[in-house]
Amino acid sequence: MSFIQLAKRMNDIRPFYVMDLLARARELEAAGRSIIHLEVGEPDFSTPETILNVAHDALDKKQMHYTSAIGLIELRQKIADYYLSRFKVTVPVEQIIITPGASGALQLALSVLINPGDEVLMTDPGYPCNRHFVRLLDGKSISIPVTAETSFQLSVDSINQYWSDKTVAAMVASPANPTGTIIERDDMQAMINIIGQKKGVLLIDEIYQGLSYEAEDYTSLELTRNAFVINSFSKYFGMTGWRLGWMVVPEAYVDAVDRLAQNIFLASPTLSQYAAIEAFSDKTLAILEQRREEFQRRRDYLLPALQAAGFEVAVKPRGAFYIYANCSAFTDDSFTFVNQLLEEAGVAITPGIDFGEFEAGKHVRFAYTRPVPVLEEAVSRLKEFIKNF
Ligand SMILES: Cc1ncc(COP(=O)(O)O)c(C=O)c1O
Repeated sequence: MSFIQLAKRMNDIRPFYVMDLLARARELEAAGRSIIHLEVGEPDFSTPETILNVAHDALDKKQMHYTSAIGLIELRQKIADYYLSRFKVTVPVEQIIITPGASGALQLALSVLINPGDEVLMTDPGYPCNRHFVRLLDGKSISIPVTAETSFQLSVDSINQYWSDKTVAAMVASPANPTGTIIERDDMQAMINIIGQKKGVLLIDEIYQGLSYEAEDYTSLELTRNAFVINSFSKYFGMTGWRLGWMVVPEAYVDAVDRLAQNIFLASPTLSQYAAIEAFSDKTLAILEQRREEFQRRRDYLLPALQAAGFEVAVKPRGAFYIYANCSAFTDDSFTFVNQLLEEAGVAITPGIDFGEFEAGKHVRFAYTRPVPVLEEAVSRLKEFIKNF
């Protein structure tokens, strides 16, 4: 085909560089090389057996029709019950919307908020898709360089500094990808307050909620009813491939989000919704707690091991399963570093460029989604590699 009608916006939609790396890693594996995968942002654990059993049962007994656009009421009620039992917060079930992953939630939230030209504040480094979602709406993402000083998070000062008369919203995540850092309750409250004063909207991504270590596990819903609070079954619940998430929406936006969900998605996957009802049972939560403890053990091994090898980690990650490490002791070109590390040592990690521009060449992300003995092997390969880099 000689002609292709590609929209201009596609010039601004970047791939994940780590996908090319993953493809290369698979090639090397097919050729017999041993590759240690620390690049992928998903738990290595499979979906808990309890959830799988309920899914099998649902396949036998339920008809897999569309659900309502905002999801099965039984599941939404379970989520409300979970907020009450875990965080002692009452969330009206009407405001809980089931979505195809946090990805679906983020797109819905931004789509009901953004007009062309509107600005949205977010961190650099940060979750890269957010920038693209805003671009799809002809909005303008404002990437704020964040450092260890604010735990790689937005702050009242940076919000004040970057807020313009075109700004309508800010996006934060706690725990965050790629840094694993957390927004303390008081800081979150201060940001909620300042954005409220500016008559803006805060989108709070809590997708890594539950995966926190030595940090208070709270939800922003304890602090505000005016934010869009996004969550997912992907990470803590180990259900990445089921494509299911949820969002708690301020009351005034429920109708708009419902209308849009009807049009864009029709509904979230029905089987996944039946399965997810089991995600909040005591049995499942006990399994998830064991996994959380395992992630903490991995972090507790990998973090000092990387520091001893010469990486600088300026803020101790206390959530998710990521370590965002400064590699400038070895290179200012983390992209080349990461590619050579894969080719020569068979260790796959993610280059900083996948999370923004700010000091991206000096950073890499390690996902501790492998057991400790595998992490030990990775560190030993890494040390050998660095000697000759
Ligand atoms: C911060 C953050 N938000 C949202 C997502 C999207 O997740 P999902 O659509 O699987 O729920 C991810 C995935 O890695 C993420 O890291």
